[in-house]
Amino acid sequence: MVSVHGLIRSKEPELGRDPDTGGQVGYVLDLVHALANNTGVEKVDLLTRKVESPSISADYAADEEALSPNSRIVRLRCGPRRYIRKEALWPYLDEFVDRALQHFKAQDRLPDILHTHYADAGYIGLQLSNMLNIPQIHTGHSLGRVKLQYLLEGGMTETQIERRFRISRRIDVEEQVLDQAAMIIASTRQEADQQYGLYERTHPNRIKVIPPGMDLSRFHPPDREWRPSQAIHEEVDRFLTKPNKPMILTIARADRRKNLEGLVEAYGQSPELQDRSNLVIVAGNRDEISNLEESAAQILTNILLLIDKYALNGKVSMPKHHQPDEVPELFRLAAKRRGVFVNSAITEAFGLTLLEAAASGIPIIAPDDGGPIDIVRHCRNGLLVETLNPAALADALLAVVTAGPKWRQWARNGVAGVKNHYAWDAHVNKYLKEVRQVIRGSRKATRHRIELLHKPPLIHASRILALDIDNVLLGDSDGLRKLLEWMDEHRKGTMFAVATGRSLREALAVLRENNVPTPEVLISSVGSEIHYGPKILPDLGWATHIRYSWRREDTLIALKEVPGLEPQPMPNQGEFKISYNVTDSAIPPLDQVSNLLASRGLRANLIYSHGAFLDVLPIRASKGRAIRYLSYKWSVPLEKILVAGDSGNDEEMLEGRTLGVVVGNYSPELERLRGHHQIYFAKSSYALGVLEGIEHYHFCEARGCASNHPAEPQA
Ligand code: GLC
Ligand code: MG
Repeated sequence: MVSVHGLIRSKEPELGRDPDTGGQVGYVLDLVHALANNTGVEKVDLLTRKVESPSISADYAADEEALSPNSRIVRLRCGPRRYIRKEALWPYLDEFVDRALQHFKAQDRLPDILHTHYADAGYIGLQLSNMLNIPQIHTGHSLGRVKLQYLLEGGMTETQIERRFRISRRIDVEEQVLDQAAMIIASTRQEADQQYGLYERTHPNRIKVIPPGMDLSRFHPPDREWRPSQAIHEEVDRFLTKPNKPMILTIARADRRKNLEGLVEAYGQSPELQDRSNLVIVAGNRDEISNLEESAAQILTNILLLIDKYALNGKVSMPKHHQPDEVPELFRLAAKRRGVFVNSAITEAFGLTLLEAAASGIPIIAPDDGGPIDIVRHCRNGLLVETLNPAALADALLAVVTAGPKWRQWARNGVAGVKNHYAWDAHVNKYLKEVRQVIRGSRKATRHRIELLHKPPLIHASRILALDIDNVLLGDSDGLRKLLEWMDEHRKGTMFAVATGRSLREALAVLRENNVPTPEVLISSVGSEIHYGPKILPDLGWATHIRYSWRREDTLIALKEVPGLEPQPMPNQGEFKISYNVTDSAIPPLDQVSNLLASRGLRANLIYSHGAFLDVLPIRASKGRAIRYLSYKWSVPLEKILVAGDSGNDEEMLEGRTLGVVVGNYSPELERLRGHHQIYFAKSSYALGVLEGIEHYHFCEARGCASNHPAEPQA
């Protein structure tokens, strides 16, 4: 599981502490718990963000927290140490991806399923699932397009919404997740159809409706001996002339959308309903209406006016106080009196109180909308009604309070239905059934892929062979054949990377022409792009990382003043690469070019090769830095990376702790590396020079290196 934002801990979770630590956190913890308890599940790790701050409990800074023998929370750092709200997390999510990879690498085995929660984790999941070839399951919890819609309806402008919520990024990621995830879990049919229906890239058959489990242990029907507590009895009954009549119960906030006035109106218009039942409205606590917040005060005042209008005194009870732990008692009281629970809201997305009523053995009346549609379909414990139509509402209420044997049936159905459909065990059973399908499907695909590639997944690599293409990998076809044979024999645990000045497209073309199998990693355009084969997936984290401080247009303009520079043709230019052909005699020394850029407030990495090319890149980009990034991301130490090159743009990756090999046919600018630590100048040229370097460093002689057998797919 990946759930990034908010504060997550298992002991006394602080649900409600802030807007990001609420329903989703509760849901995820319950789900992890229920999954871990199921014998069909070996292990569950919940990955979340590590937060360290004096104002927040140290629990959230622990790297690990055990939940049960086979489940735990794993906290990974991303971005600043302090707590930040979810909208501000976006720039740091790539770091979470890298740390998650490192975490996975340290484990005995990879997960079979990645389940992500909310768009931020969805983004992380997109990358991990692609790179590790693990199917992704996603739960949206709430959706950007839905939020956008209601914020616009509420009068905010697009610009305001964007500034405050960064909603376009979120929606964009949601679209990608919907397109790529193997399964999307929705809580209600309406969420699946209408909310996800707002998106362009949904695959409706991949959306599964599995309602969350509810902790309804406090809610059960009254038994024979049950009597209401004195407090309940007094608070409710003191307003009623004949308290033992069937009770119509509603429990809702005094909020316009809950339509409490509509309910009183319906009751007021029906003398027969008044004759056969009492109406009990539990709408929060109050001492005096006049002290309430204005909108709530307005609603309660309207209700009192309606009571007066229809002369409902003695038939309607609106208790002033109740304790949270008295709520189950209220439900039992209504059940005891053969009543009905009504949710008269205009719309209802989920309807938790309806489930509490069902568990307590009371039939329900609810709007024909959202969650209630699913509840009544699953439980067959009451009626759906057009809540804005008072006559229809009154008819439905009357039908239930006068139902006879049918009432008992409804009550029983509710108790059973909630157990079968709204308990976490029930959720997990449905969940695992779907998940098994997903895993089966992906295993088939994986097996196919491994046969195709004869390669175990990237994450198992313990060393990297990183080669420049032109004049290193290519140039001598006999040498190339020998090198490819060597690579085939040593593929286990070795990641094959190319690092080239060419664009991705040209690199792929020239490799194909020379029958070189697609490498697992392609560093192209002088290190300004990283992709993973065979699907050629971009490394999004790298792009985010190097974008820093890069102002392409301004850099281009500034360099117009430099003599001796002729822009290379378009295909050689990139989002993060400006390239020139150079007239060596005309160009001023490179540090002067750097100074010129600096004087304009620009920063760039200037790379000169073959006395003929100048590449201008973001300061964080180069082949060498791309190699170091791979080392970090995939936890392969630099000493386990052999790099081979022939010219200036290879310099950075050759230097430092990597095992550097300069092939015999090198270009003069590399002469100055001679004698540097861990740089081997091969006597042979091209691919044979690489093989000579491999031998020099005893690169693959360690245990577990040579193998002719592709690794088995994970069990
Ligand atoms: C490749 C690229 C070119 C670059 C040169 C040196 O030839 O196509 O754009 O300038 O390598 O890095
Ligand atoms: Mg080269």
